[in-house]
Amino acid sequence: MSARKIIIDTDPGQDDAVAILLALASPEDIDVLGITAVAGNVPLALTEKNARIVCELAGKPETKVFSGCDRPLAHDLVTAEHVHGKTGLDGPVLPDPTMPLQEQHAVDFIIDTLRAHDPKTVTLCPLGPLTNIATALQRAPDIADRIQEIILMGGAYFEVGNITPAAEFNIYVDPEAADIVFKCGAPIVVMPLDVTHKALVTKPRNDAFRAIGSKVGTAVAEMTDFFERFDKEKYGSNGAPLHDPCVTAYLIKPELFSGRHINVEIETHSDLTRGMTVADWWHVTDRPANALFIGDVDADGFFALLAERLATL
Ligand code: RIB
Ligand code: CA
Repeated sequence: MSARKIIIDTDPGQDDAVAILLALASPEDIDVLGITAVAGNVPLALTEKNARIVCELAGKPETKVFSGCDRPLAHDLVTAEHVHGKTGLDGPVLPDPTMPLQEQHAVDFIIDTLRAHDPKTVTLCPLGPLTNIATALQRAPDIADRIQEIILMGGAYFEVGNITPAAEFNIYVDPEAADIVFKCGAPIVVMPLDVTHKALVTKPRNDAFRAIGSKVGTAVAEMTDFFERFDKEKYGSNGAPLHDPCVTAYLIKPELFSGRHINVEIETHSDLTRGMTVADWWHVTDRPANALFIGDVDADGFFALLAERLATL
């Protein structure tokens, strides 16, 4: 089977970085047409720089990286330096990028790419706030029918929120954008906190990254060492949830995951519950299903895949 054509939309972020590395380490499965940066964990100037740092860490400086929207559709930007550090990639010491940033705006790249490829042959993989994706849909409504699938990290139901009691960060930062995406009609797979909180980087799993013994393995171990201190303190968990790589792993081995096809709507009116993903897990409404909401993962299989593929870079 030919490699899946994807665009990764991202706000690196250590977990975004691991998701990008896993994709770039899997060329037989994934053809990364481009990486589009969005403001989220840290401001846009850092997320676009971090995306290029990660591509060079992977030894793939030919990857096309685009800069996108620098703020949400209707709110001031909320960032997460308290989780990811000032640079957004705290942990390892990595050199500034020398590979170029593409001239074209990320939103134009998303639109042009979907229009240039046959319908239903390009998958969007958002790992941050959905501002770029929603702006592309607003500017070019015709692309909705051309999207093969949107596989995104965001939202929460049983796990509730991580940035407020009600909302997960990616959806909270730009709830209006999320509302547009969840209503666009394209097939959607959601990796919420419900599943990513089952993908914890325990010490043995982090040791396995370090044991790869390469620049990439060591950098990933150092990223997750830094990244996990916040979650361990907050949740008392024995490791950090590796959120975004769940998206890439689903592309490679969907059988590692399970979920339900349900209706998901986004709270955009209430300040108290802004960005809540109202997931009809128990089908208590007649609202039509619009997303495959993932609830479980074979965590050992997930980390085995990660270690195996990262070792190839
Ligand atoms: O809530 C977790 C999500 O927010 C992850 O994508 C993380 O990188 C941040 O963007
Ligand atoms: Ca992210």
